[in-house]
Amino acid sequence: MYVCICVCVYIYIYIYIYIYIYLYPCPRIDQAHKLSIVCSMVYLQELLVAGSDTSTSAIEWAMAELLRNPQCMKKAQAELASEINQDLIQESDLPRLKFLHACLKESMRLHPPGPLLLPHRAVNSCKVMGYTIPKNSQVLVNAYAIGRDPKSWKDPLDYKPERFLTSNMDFRGSNIEFIPFGAGRRACPGQPMATKHVPLVLASLLHFFEWSLPTGHDPKDIDMTDKFHTSLQKKQPLLLIPKIKN
Ligand code: HEM
Repeated sequence: MYVCICVCVYIYIYIYIYIYIYLYPCPRIDQAHKLSIVCSMVYLQELLVAGSDTSTSAIEWAMAELLRNPQCMKKAQAELASEINQDLIQESDLPRLKFLHACLKESMRLHPPGPLLLPHRAVNSCKVMGYTIPKNSQVLVNAYAIGRDPKSWKDPLDYKPERFLTSNMDFRGSNIEFIPFGAGRRACPGQPMATKHVPLVLASLLHFFEWSLPTGHDPKDIDMTDKFHTSLQKKQPLLLIPKIKN
């Protein structure tokens, strides 16, 4: 995660040096062209910032939950062993990995990387559950609390990926009780990409390695305290020892 932040800061500084020292003073580039270059660079920077921290945090929480729940880890690895027959896991393999997806959904229900989504604005005054939301007020949606709401979830604090095997809830925000990527027109535009690369990384970690904690640590004791930084992260980073599978 720190590497991601350093890379983002580096790119950020690079972009601004490029814009202010080279692009703006350059008389050979016309104004419209300058603007389109600046816009493209800012878009790229936004995608990088919005996509890296969230994805790494989703993978870290999923691994932590699987380590704490060895039965689920075994089941996910057994599914991979029976479904993957080649040396590299490919995007085309993903639809067959039902249990792996259920594990990922369950950890994103409990630990959504964007717990309050992004700040929204009420474009009109409206009433929500009897409360008046005045026009232009800032609205924060608590996806974290929604994912743990006992009115929507049985045993909401337990890690039970199986609950997603029997439901057709997806990541697209059509089920308001499960919105790790937000919902509606401002939902995460990176969702189609993230729901491919995150399971792909997770599947590769589980299929090619056995994971253990440093000697003397019981997986049940993994500290699951979270902290809100740019995304919802583990307060204590997950330290694991990988062993290549034979
Ligand atoms: C597990 C991975 C990810 C999670 C959990 C996640 C979650 C979110 C959430 C909750 C929002 C705010 C939605 C709202 O307020 O309703 C958001 C916005 C955004 N995400 Fe993601 N995201 C992830 C990956 C990505 C990736 C890979 C990209 C790009 C390549 C990306 C690009 C963006 C952008 C640009 C926005 C701002 C959209 C706007 O301002 O309307 N995200 N994301």
